[in-house]
Amino acid sequence: MKFFLDTAITSELRQGVATGLVDGVTTNPTLIVQSGRKLDDVVREITEIVDGPISVETLSTDAEGMYTEGKKFATMHKNIVVKCPLTEAGLTATKRLSKEGIRVNVTLCFSANQALLAAKAGAAYISPFVGRLDDNGQDGMQLIRDIVQIYKNYSFKTEVLAASLRHPIHIHQCALAGAHVGTFPFKVFQQLFKHPLTDIGLEKFLSDWKKAQG
Ligand code: G3P
Repeated sequence: MKFFLDTAITSELRQGVATGLVDGVTTNPTLIVQSGRKLDDVVREITEIVDGPISVETLSTDAEGMYTEGKKFATMHKNIVVKCPLTEAGLTATKRLSKEGIRVNVTLCFSANQALLAAKAGAAYISPFVGRLDDNGQDGMQLIRDIVQIYKNYSFKTEVLAASLRHPIHIHQCALAGAHVGTFPFKVFQQLFKHPLTDIGLEKFLSDWKKAQG
């Protein structure tokens, strides 16, 4: 399972990447705004930090506009993946961009049928939003299981990029479900390392060692 960081804050990205365990980055308009920087500036810096797929989202709502934006993003760096929303226009642009060899991450997916459409449009990634479905009283993780199964049934190459993951249990369940990628905030990445028994155990090993040295 690949780990992407869902952030446009480059300081935390640098910290995550230093572990060697970060495979890519996802951004969206909200995250870019939160960084307080211009999209082009922050994306360029991210390309210098991470050697892996970097999703950048289009802002147009029509297919032609998304296609034009996507083409521009793709020229910025070879690792850029264009993000298009799961609308009819978004999938029209996805089909066109994919045909030209530009990788597309179809975002804002909330149903298995939407995921099926994205795969047929040639998306490189589908991003089902687990946490937002949970917020809506639905079982977000069941959507991940369903899409993984459907893509297996038809040998689609589209990777399931589980998004809107909010806590470590989401990552655990995604891994069990066979999601290809999970994207989550840096805070959640840090939580994955932690277990109180690891800290207690390490403290005891070190103090026993120290005692034995006299
Ligand atoms: O990658 C999508 C993600 O940024 C959405 O997360 O927590 O706002 O639902 P959230």
